[in-house]
Amino acid sequence: MTPAAAIEVETFVSLLNEDLGTEYQSIVQYTNHIATINGAEFSGIVAELKAHLVQELSHAQILAEQVSFLGGEPGTSVPSVERNGDSRRALEADLRLETEQLERYRERFSQANDLQLADVAEALRPLLEQTQEHVRDLQMVLGE
Ligand SMILES: [Fe+2]
Ligand SMILES: [Fe+2]
Repeated sequence: MTPAAAIEVETFVSLLNEDLGTEYQSIVQYTNHIATINGAEFSGIVAELKAHLVQELSHAQILAEQVSFLGGEPGTSVPSVERNGDSRRALEADLRLETEQLERYRERFSQANDLQLADVAEALRPLLEQTQEHVRDLQMVLGE
């Protein structure tokens, strides 16, 4: 590996570690929202959020494994999660986070391919696809 490529991989690993932090944030945020969202118009979405939560845990595991596979140290810090009393606001915050993650995973998928890390790109594919579904689920309930 040339020194230039090594630096790129290092940068890529630190971005994966930031991605991991956003998944920890999702886990905390969804756990909180599942317990606090109320109102008849949102009764269906709580079941969806529970399904998201299970997938976020697998996203975190995949990212930590990829960081480790690439010689990095998987991070353990959880970004702070805003508390929200209003159900619609809470779901809007969930949508913002998912949209941000979708952009991140699109970028990470193409970076993995650019770095010729085919196995890593393959490991990231479910994150990309499931995050796309999470964005759609939240857009639907928010009427966006
Ligand atoms: Fe996720
Ligand atoms: Fe998600």
